[in-house]
Amino acid sequence: MAIPVIDFSKLDGEERAKTMAQIANGCEEWGFFQLVNHGISEDLLERVKKVCSECYKLEREEGFKNSTAVKLLNDLVEGKTAEKLDNLDWEDVFTLLDNNEWPSQTPKFKETMMEYRWELKKLGEKIMEVMDENLGLSKGYIKKAFNGGEDCDAFFGTKVSHYPPCPNPELVNGLRAHTDAGGVILLFQDDNVKGLQILKEGKWIHVQPIPKSIVINTGDQIEVLSNGRYKSVWHRVLAMPDGNRRSIASFYNPSLKATIAPAPQLIAQMNKEVDQTYPKFVFGDYMSVYAEQKFLPKEPRFQAVGAM
Ligand code: OGA
Ligand code: NI
Repeated sequence: MAIPVIDFSKLDGEERAKTMAQIANGCEEWGFFQLVNHGISEDLLERVKKVCSECYKLEREEGFKNSTAVKLLNDLVEGKTAEKLDNLDWEDVFTLLDNNEWPSQTPKFKETMMEYRWELKKLGEKIMEVMDENLGLSKGYIKKAFNGGEDCDAFFGTKVSHYPPCPNPELVNGLRAHTDAGGVILLFQDDNVKGLQILKEGKWIHVQPIPKSIVINTGDQIEVLSNGRYKSVWHRVLAMPDGNRRSIASFYNPSLKATIAPAPQLIAQMNKEVDQTYPKFVFGDYMSVYAEQKFLPKEPRFQAVGAM
């Protein structure tokens, strides 16, 4: 069993209807799918891989070696502690936003990642339009819902992660199981080192690395907007014994000020069959709950934010 692989270039040709249906199936049945021929140039993707790997070596690796994760795993293996590593991730990570501090020592890092973020944001918007159409919403509905009006733009963040080789991968997670809080996530994962898994019908299955592809998944806010038609799916990253897994995840999320609720058209259509209804809330409140409950089931998060 493997998550769907979809040729995004076919969206503009004779096979448009089939491609739309494949994406609808990816959203409804999987919550995750991979795009090939998505229009991001191979040259740009190669440059992104290069600057991120160089950045890790130059600006991050030393810090990871001295991290709490490394120290606690060491202590456990040496028998200095019996404490399990259940609250820890074997991950080096930093986030790029329009207005935060970026790594500054790696040549070409900033210009390359700015170009990449621009391209990925456009791709994210195309995918949101496909979702609009598949859900029967007006074109631009999701984007507009994420942009909460004047002075509150949607959030677009890029998380650059490395999952270094782990001497005891059975003792710690690369990234603990969770569903994503936000909207649409576009992930450029390592060509060779696997580790990302999704929970499908009670089984963990690998998101198979495919060079040059972009993995798409949907977060909790798309689940709410779609009134449960597109469910956010549990996923995790395993720590691996060999290879330093690079993974660059871009998050297209609502503005913290945006109000999120199921699209009224979808409530009208679906309420007969669907027993779960979702609350209406401000996304910033959801993020406050998520900060405390990221690695727990989402249903109590919806309940908590609904009660705020
Ligand atoms: C995340 C995530 C997966 C990965 O950052 O939410 O699921 O492969 N990342 O890094
Ligand atoms: Ni995630």
